[in-house]
Amino acid sequence: MIKLWMAPGGLHIEPGQAKDAGDLAAIHANGFYRGWPNAEFASFLSERETPVYVACDAKRRIAGFALIRISADEAELLTIAVDPIWRGKGLGQALLKAALDDLLMSSAKRMFLEVSEENVAALKLYQRQGFTTISSRKGYYPRADGSAATALVMARDLG
Ligand SMILES: CC(C)(COP(=O)(O)OP(=O)(O)OC[C@H]1O[C@@H](n2cnc3c(N)ncnc32)[C@H](O)[C@@H]1OP(=O)(O)O)[C@@H](O)C(=O)NCCC(=O)NCCS
Repeated sequence: MIKLWMAPGGLHIEPGQAKDAGDLAAIHANGFYRGWPNAEFASFLSERETPVYVACDAKRRIAGFALIRISADEAELLTIAVDPIWRGKGLGQALLKAALDDLLMSSAKRMFLEVSEENVAALKLYQRQGFTTISSRKGYYPRADGSAATALVMARDLG
């Protein structure tokens, strides 16, 4: 079965492939203070329990992605990132919706994520998709100046 979801800007969303590791690492590095190596993405892309959803055009140029980890009845959003030139166009929403839709066919019954309380765009995205804050972790996200921001742990039921 081919999995495909529509996305804004003439893009679509489909499962990530092994060859995407470098593109995902580059987009991720643009969105976070600490990047992850290509090998980390190559490993995620090779495992069934860490599905990746990529937003791309017909030539498969990738504009953003979401990475999930499924363990038994829980799913976790490990990361989501959109290329800076594509932000604010609804791709984040589309990626999260595609992941939530696909997870309906998995063993997961509840989904969790962590987000900096300072990340306004991500908080809006998660709240709109029904996530609520269940706890917080102080001093979790390192900042460039040596201080650290509080992480919010959010969750929602699937289905
Ligand atoms: C978070 C991120 C994935 C959102 O992707 P996106 O494609 O820009 O998101 P969308 O266009 O779907 O917008 C999602 C919501 O954020 C809002 N938003 C987008 N950019 C914003 C900004 N710079 N400031 C405030 N709100 C913003 C949108 O208005 C929308 O809210 P709404 O539905 O209430 O209108 C993207 O900003 C990103 O890659 N950030 C860097 C990586 C990151 O922080 N990931 C999340 C880690 S937990």
